[in-house]
Amino acid sequence: MDIAATDQLLSTTRAVRRRLDLGRPVERDVILECLRLAVQAPTGGNKQAWRWLVVDDPEVRAKVADIYAGQTLAVIDRRYPHIKDPQTRRVYDSARYLATVLAQVPVLIVPCVQGRLDEPNATHPAAFYGSIFPAIWNLQLALRSRRMGSVLTTPFVGDDERRYTEVLRLPDTMTPVALLPVAYTIGDEFKPAERPPVETITRWNRWTD
Ligand SMILES: Cc1cc2nc3c(=O)[nH]c(=O)nc-3n(C[C@H](O)[C@H](O)[C@H](O)COP(=O)(O)O)c2cc1C
Repeated sequence: MDIAATDQLLSTTRAVRRRLDLGRPVERDVILECLRLAVQAPTGGNKQAWRWLVVDDPEVRAKVADIYAGQTLAVIDRRYPHIKDPQTRRVYDSARYLATVLAQVPVLIVPCVQGRLDEPNATHPAAFYGSIFPAIWNLQLALRSRRMGSVLTTPFVGDDERRYTEVLRLPDTMTPVALLPVAYTIGDEFKPAERPPVETITRWNRWTD
């Protein structure tokens, strides 16, 4: 195991929005290669209920992007005036940019779970979502190692979910969990993010003395 390379991958896989190369196609083979690595992730009870919808048809992408823009730009416009922190403002600026170019991003991946949380005998929410996010992160790491970038977005909320599922023709028995725009990145340099020292957010054995 090359620890230096692994640590670099783990510490520089960022949410990429502005540096998605909109002009370079992404081959289906490389997406399948990354999905093969994604499904090496763990799942509760080894259920492997993940399903993957990969959208590379420009017409379908445009329809998805249209819904995404309407939904996301409204939220950003409402919240933006109240945001004071410059770093959060940058994230919102970048999210606004993504919403305006989404139709041009070569591939959109929708990780899904076969099943619904509100069905009888549904698994616990922690296991339901906990069984797809490790695979999503594996996917994002695999993409990054192949010079692609992605960003995890979660637009399938409330009434908006229905609008997406109609366009994507997803069955009612399926839960779309996230939407990942995927493209080669412009440049390959990404830095570790600022995070608090782990010593300040970690305690040992018991929370209080
Ligand atoms: C559960 C989850 C939901 C997210 N939803 C969105 C989203 O809807 N739109 C978006 O642009 N980014 C979204 N993100 C990406 C975060 O904004 C991003 O991870 C955060 O700003 C930190 O940036 P970094 O990943 O480069 O460290 C989401 C991330 C997670 C883990």
